[in-house]
Amino acid sequence: MTTKNKKIVIAIDGFSSCGKSTFAKAIAARLGYIFIDTGAMYRAVTLFALEQGAIRSGVVDEDAVVALLPQIEITFRFNPRRGASDIYVNGDLAEGRIRSIEVSNCVSGVSSIKQVREKLVAMQQQMGRDRGVVMDGRDIGTVVFPDAELKIFMQADAKVRAERRYKELTEKGDSVTMEEILENVISRDKADMSRAISPLRKAEDAVVLDNSYMNVEEQMEWFLEKYRAAVEA
Ligand code: DC
Repeated sequence: MTTKNKKIVIAIDGFSSCGKSTFAKAIAARLGYIFIDTGAMYRAVTLFALEQGAIRSGVVDEDAVVALLPQIEITFRFNPRRGASDIYVNGDLAEGRIRSIEVSNCVSGVSSIKQVREKLVAMQQQMGRDRGVVMDGRDIGTVVFPDAELKIFMQADAKVRAERRYKELTEKGDSVTMEEILENVISRDKADMSRAISPLRKAEDAVVLDNSYMNVEEQMEWFLEKYRAAVEA
């Protein structure tokens, strides 16, 4: 196989609201790879748990969430309009609903449950078994695909990230304040890094991309250099 058509796994990990999904989506489109947003999968479980009453007043009932797991079927369907796949929970489109502030506030509690991670990690490994995927999340380079040919760890200032999230949500018509978004970003960073199972950390062989002050084109230029080196390795 020539390096030109060698398919690899690109693992993108990092803090919330770093623009991982935007970056991963652009890379996948450029390379003709499949893009998998693993955060959407944790959000989908959280949404279902909220709907089923396994989370009440922000409190996650872990046993109840685990008991719901066999009832949750998560699927992706490509949406040509967005140039990415939409997520479905038991056949219902959930793409918009998983991004609400309510889901954002509860997702850390759900993603720290061992059985939730086991189920979703197994699904993610299955989705990437033929390579040719760009997967973004928190544990892709460390747990899901420790053998990924290219691992990128993304970071950006918390304030810059909160501003980006605020813009995204208010443009969608959500009524949120900058303060609550910044609080959510900071508390999720803490929860992601300190949870017992698969905490967010940079894989030793990951390259760091700090995109606080970089636009999409600059990030793409940075990426293509790393990508060429990875396929030629
Ligand atoms: O990327 P995101 O903000 O949509 O992710 C939502 C949450 O899911 C985030 O708080 C951490 C969790 N997550 C995780 O624990 N592991 C992943 N691979 C992806 C996301």
